[in-house]
Amino acid sequence: MIDPFLDKNPLAPIKSKDLKNIELILITHAHSDHLGDAVEIAKRNNATIVAIYELATYLNRTYGVKTFGMNIGGYYNFNDVKVWMFNAIHSSSIIEKEEIIYAGNPVSYVLEIENKKVFHAGDTGLFKDMELIPKIVGNIDVAILPIGGIFTMDINQARIALEMLKPKIFIPMHYNTFDLIKIDKKELEKVKEAKTIILSPGEEFEL
Ligand code: NI
Repeated sequence: MIDPFLDKNPLAPIKSKDLKNIELILITHAHSDHLGDAVEIAKRNNATIVAIYELATYLNRTYGVKTFGMNIGGYYNFNDVKVWMFNAIHSSSIIEKEEIIYAGNPVSYVLEIENKKVFHAGDTGLFKDMELIPKIVGNIDVAILPIGGIFTMDINQARIALEMLKPKIFIPMHYNTFDLIKIDKKELEKVKEAKTIILSPGEEFEL
């Protein structure tokens, strides 16, 4: 799973304690709406948290959870899934009381499972190096991109990202969770760069 923000997420239909048999938890960056319940889920399921090296080290030392630190450009085979770590243009820190803890760079991921590739952008603005990602990993089947604006790119920028990533399917994320990132869903109808699949919280899509 990626960025399990459940217990404090007003839209999440399930809670972290409902999850079973989780083996791998990928974290794009340390903001509380992404790191979310990762530590709790990792402890409960004896799962491994994958994150950029600094964040992985912090979580391992602070909470004693199993972690696997990577860095940008790296990839690793976890049993039947190949995980690539790429760039994201954002920030990443843990905010505790009066302290802001450095948590390494924010990242995006490509997951390759049975020859299918899914790009999860994490929180990011638009950046031109996205065009390199399919050159490195090959054709992308699904791109999951943020569209809520304010903290990430909006729909128009996501469309430019789709031109570079060239996925078959686009799944928008990071919108409507809070008032600040509410979107006009009509904007999504304009997306012609890839087939758009809009998922409601709790809904599934099988590739
Ligand atoms: Ni963020």
